[in-house]
Amino acid sequence: MPTKIEKDALTGTNTTGHEWDGLKELNTPLPKWWLYVMYATIAFSAVWVILYPAFPFQGATGVTGWIAREAVVQDVAAANERMAPMMNRLRAATPQQIAADPELRAFAMAGGRIAFANNCAACHGAGGQGAVGGFPSLADDDWIWGGSYDAIHQTIAHGIRNEEDDEARTSMMPRFVADGVLTPAQVNDVASYVVSLAGDADPGQAAEAERGKPLYAENCASCHGDTGEGNRDVGAPRLNDRIWLHGADRHAIARFIANPRMGVMPAWAGRLDPATINMLTVYVHALGGGEN
Ligand code: HEC
Ligand code: HEC
Repeated sequence: MPTKIEKDALTGTNTTGHEWDGLKELNTPLPKWWLYVMYATIAFSAVWVILYPAFPFQGATGVTGWIAREAVVQDVAAANERMAPMMNRLRAATPQQIAADPELRAFAMAGGRIAFANNCAACHGAGGQGAVGGFPSLADDDWIWGGSYDAIHQTIAHGIRNEEDDEARTSMMPRFVADGVLTPAQVNDVASYVVSLAGDADPGQAAEAERGKPLYAENCASCHGDTGEGNRDVGAPRLNDRIWLHGADRHAIARFIANPRMGVMPAWAGRLDPATINMLTVYVHALGGGEN
């Protein structure tokens, strides 16, 4: 079919010559402002390609020589330089001294919060509230290893039961069933007794708890204390509170006694600046449970 370009009577615009069942296609020109904007962006891109790194050739930097990564490196270096005097003071001071100096303390709390979010929150929760599965709350006054500045600093710097740091805190609870020290029935009894220590005695389990009492005295008191008060020297948690690392119900406690999974925490001395470890110590101490 021959195409015929004609002027549309209504709009005064030419048609393209295409026609379907009497419908004709108009060849409406693009608005001028739109075209000029497009030409301007093309021109802009040409200038940009010359000035800034655009083509992924090796060493292609554009005539300005500007590189995003270097700009960041420079910004970080400038920020470090600005903070250097403060970081030096934080490195030289003890956590106690930092906490006593309002200016240092304010800086340590701000820096400690960021370092905590980056390095610790994954295990201990965003606010240090801890997580079931063996990750203790750092925001309460129930401490496994101690809540003084020195104890917190030691824990953070060297970690717990890791293989990387010779000064890591370490201790092991026997695997009472797995190691054949107690039978599963005895573990149930002693678990009922432990629950009663925490003040959650279930009257239905009174006989079990009674049988568990001497088992506790013989097997557990050496680490967890006669009344379940715990022992920080060996990192044995208090059992006579209602704070549990691995779940609060009797079965979870019995499972733990039968085959304990010991918590591991990395050492930070090799990973973080000593100033950062000091800031973290002050920050954790201030989360709620700090001791003198
Ligand atoms: C990979 C997980 C993990 C990370 C990351 C981690 N921790 Fe821990 N942390 C633990 C575990 C598990 C324990 C408890 C160990 C135990 O049962 O004795 C613990 C214990 C602690 C304790 C001792 C608590 C007490 O009651 O005595 C402190 C303090 C602590 N962590 C601080 C930190 C800080 C600060 C960071 C970040 C620099 C951090 N942790 C990062 C797993 C972690
Ligand atoms: C050699 C020392 C030692 C002995 C003996 C020991 N424990 Fe432990 N126990 C620990 C340590 C250390 C932990 C902490 C494990 C961790 O933090 O990952 C622990 C943790 C626990 C927990 C978990 C506490 C919580 O908050 O969830 C329970 C329950 C427990 N022990 C019960 C017992 C009972 C019952 C016995 C005796 C049958 C016993 N333990 C004997 C060292 C000991």
